[in-house]
Amino acid sequence: MCSIDLKGQRKKQSVSHLLCGRVRSQTLINNHLTTQHTTINLKMNTELFSQVDKYISGLLAPEDKALIDTIKSLDNEGLPQHSVSPNQGKFLQVMMIACNAKKVLELGTLGGYSTIWLARALPEDGKVITIEVDKHHGEVAQKNIHNAGLSQKVDLRVGKALDILPKIFAENGEPFDLIFIDADKPPYKEYFDYALQLSRPGTLIICDNVIREGKVLDTNSIDEKVQGVQRLNKMLSESKKVTATILHSVGVKEYDGMAIAVVNRINM
Ligand SMILES: C[S@@+](CC[C@H](N)C(=O)[O-])C[C@H]1O[C@@H](n2cnc3c(N)ncnc32)[C@H](O)[C@@H]1O
Repeated sequence: MCSIDLKGQRKKQSVSHLLCGRVRSQTLINNHLTTQHTTINLKMNTELFSQVDKYISGLLAPEDKALIDTIKSLDNEGLPQHSVSPNQGKFLQVMMIACNAKKVLELGTLGGYSTIWLARALPEDGKVITIEVDKHHGEVAQKNIHNAGLSQKVDLRVGKALDILPKIFAENGEPFDLIFIDADKPPYKEYFDYALQLSRPGTLIICDNVIREGKVLDTNSIDEKVQGVQRLNKMLSESKKVTATILHSVGVKEYDGMAIAVVNRINM
C-alpha cells in the first residue's frame, strides 16, 4: 500500500493517495511513487494538477474585475485565502442552474467570493442569504458584493450560523433550492440537519472541504475539523432522506472534496 501521512508531516505525499487507488505494489520515496510498471513524480503532478485547473478556469471560469478584486481584498484586509477556486465557483453555478435555483443559503461568507458566483447564477428575482460570524469579514464581503453590483440579490447576516439558522427557520419562508455549507467544520452535521429542515425534495446541499487532504481516512484523528466532516460523511452514508456523493479534487487548492446531496422525494 502507498504511504499516506495522516498527521500532515509530509504534505506532498497525501497527493499520492489520488494516484494509487488501483495499484497493488508500490513504494513512495522522495516524492516518487514507484509501482510495478512505472515511477510517477508526484511533485510534478501536483504542478500538473494546478496547471490543468488553471487551463479549465481560463476556458470556463475566467474571473472578472469584481472577482479578482475580491481575492485581492482578502490580503489587503487581513482575511485568509480560503475562498473556493474559480472552477469551484463555476461548479456551484452549474449546480444552481441545473436545479433552477432561485433561493440560496450559504454558510460562511468570508469576503463574498463564492457569494458572488452564487448570486450571479440567480434569476432577476432570486436571493442568496449568506451567514458570516466575523463582523470584519462581513464588512469586507458587503463591499465586494456591492462592487459586483449584487447588493440587491444578497442578504448577508452576521452571527453564528447555529444562532441564525433557527431564526431563518422561524421566518417560515419558502424552502431553499440550494444550500452551500462552507463555515467552520466541527458542526457540519448540525448544519446539514438544519439544511434539511430548510429544504424541499430536490434541494441540493453542497458541503465543502470534506476530504481534508485525505485526513478523513484517519479514524483516530483528534483534529476537530476532521472529526466534524467524518461525522457528516457518515451521516450522509446512512441517511435515507438524501442521495449523496463526494467529488474529491486536486487543483489550485489543496487536495479536498465537496459532498453533494439531493433531498429525496421519498425516503430511500
Ligand atoms: C472557508 S471560509 C468561506 C469561504 C467562502 N464561502 C468563499 O468561498 O468565498 C469560512 C468562513 O466561515 C466563517 N465562519 C466560521 N465559523 C462560523 C460560524 N459558526 N458561523 C458562521 N460563519 C462562520 C469564517 O469566519 C469564514 O469567513
